[in-house]
Amino acid sequence: MGLQQSDALDVERIREDFPILEREVGDGRPLVYLDNGATTQTPDRVVDAISEYYRTYNANVHRGIHQLSQEASIAYEEAHDAVADFVGADGREEIVFTKNTTEAENLVAYSWGLNELGPGDEVVLTEMEHHSSFVTWQQIAERAGADVKYIPVTDEGTLDMDAAADLVTDDTAMVSAVHVSNTLGTVNPARELADLAHDHDAYVFLDGAQAVPTRPVDVAAIDADFYAFSAHKMAGPTGIGALYGKEEILEEMEPYLYGGGMIRKVSFDETTWNDLPWKFEAGTPSIAQAVGFAEAVEYLEDIGMESVKRHEEHLAAYALDRMAEFDDIEVYGPDDPTDRGGLVSFNLDGVHAHDLASITNDHGVAIRAGDHCTQPLHDKLGVAATARASFYVYNTTDEIDVLLDAMDDARELFA
Ligand code: ALA
Repeated sequence: MGLQQSDALDVERIREDFPILEREVGDGRPLVYLDNGATTQTPDRVVDAISEYYRTYNANVHRGIHQLSQEASIAYEEAHDAVADFVGADGREEIVFTKNTTEAENLVAYSWGLNELGPGDEVVLTEMEHHSSFVTWQQIAERAGADVKYIPVTDEGTLDMDAAADLVTDDTAMVSAVHVSNTLGTVNPARELADLAHDHDAYVFLDGAQAVPTRPVDVAAIDADFYAFSAHKMAGPTGIGALYGKEEILEEMEPYLYGGGMIRKVSFDETTWNDLPWKFEAGTPSIAQAVGFAEAVEYLEDIGMESVKRHEEHLAAYALDRMAEFDDIEVYGPDDPTDRGGLVSFNLDGVHAHDLASITNDHGVAIRAGDHCTQPLHDKLGVAATARASFYVYNTTDEIDVLLDAMDDARELFA
């Protein structure tokens, strides 16, 4: 396959880091992996870092006396530093490792929300929230007796910020919004949302699951109170994600999970909590995954997040252009590729998204089909499902052409 390079990245070189991309699938088709919004592939050096951990210094952390535990503890702690640096946090105190973005949402909703929300308080979400935020805040607000409001999505697939200015009031306690929509690709105005929340003494929580992997993110510049993301969407392993929280807020919050590692002193009468971030990391943590997370962050830093962003925009622009050639393809989300992340959700007239994904699979093309964990947004769009192609550093415009060719087959089959 002749690779179409963007000017941002040496894609041919990058692809060598991902042996899985050499796989053939189905009846011998080269794999075209366009499901990166769900999970990205893992470069050799991340796999090697995890393997080296298990082969040479596997031990439990929390500073055991023996050498392996010391080495594992240092690697685990330094992984927090690497992730903190990557998103502009002040230090490891502000980075709690969680299982994923969803757990980070739950941590804040249970720990802060259940304790702080009450009747008369409002949580403001957006209509384009992922279920990880939508369901979590909906359920916790209900338990706390608080109300939930939703910032509407415009016909262009952006947030209606005029409506947001009316919805966020002095009754608002939390504004929780997705930074980059996993369905529309929309890049939401994170700093504007934070300022709006802070003008009313509310906190802002940003779901950065699709943002941190695909663009430079600086939590301090955004002035986020909380910010969450997952390693497996950014060239890292599954089973680990991060919650950023401002240190002074995390200090005030109650632990979410109790157990070993998160305590300072336990007696028959009372227990006191460990320092940040360990207060929120009960039990044996995901040590190997943390090592892999740190390596993934370094891998992306070596590529350069500005370059990743430009490449994502290049691919999104190409996909939008190619899809615009056809009257029977409906694309969801903003038209301008610089207003969106590197993903495109769409439908082909007369073909259910699941059927389409099955036909593209026959061509070796992996895309996602369904509601992408945004059922309320799909209700608003008036469709039960969409197909979604989502790109990463190793994808090429040639691969988007393979997807479009596969869609020709779908047209013929369902004509
Ligand atoms: N949230 C992930 C996605 O959008 C799973 O595909």
